[in-house]
This record gives sequence, C-alpha cells and structure tokens, in this order.
Amino acid sequence: MYVCICRQITDNQIREECMQGTNRIADLREKLGLATECGKCCKHAKSIVNEFQNSTPFVNAIAV
Ligand code: FES
Repeated sequence: MYVCICRQITDNQIREECMQGTNRIADLREKLGLATECGKCCKHAKSIVNEFQNSTPFVNAIAV
C-alpha cells in the first residue's frame, strides 16, 4: 500500500528500511525521499515505524 503518494513509497519499503535499522523519519526522508513534498505521509509513516519497533524487539536489539 502506498504511504507516500508524492514519492510512490509503500509501507513495505518503510518496513524494509526498518529491518536495516532505520527508526527515524529523518532517515527515511534521506534514504527514500519520504515526506519531502506535501508531508501528509509523515504521520502514517511514523505509525508504521512505531508498529515495527513494537512488534520486533529482537530484530531491533540486533540492529543497535
Ligand atoms: S504524500 Fe509523502 S510527501 Fe506527499
């Protein structure tokens, strides 16, 4: 599902970045271009990052 319509970024792309250790919107902005135009995707993207962090504590421990 598209999260960022302006840059055609999907929820799966955001989760893949989270799997690589990205946990900040600023990093997603830099890597994917998320929220670099209208910014309306920022809140939804943040909820995906938070959901990922809360659902995968073991993966997050490895990434640190
Ligand atoms: S929807 Fe992401 S910048 Fe517009």
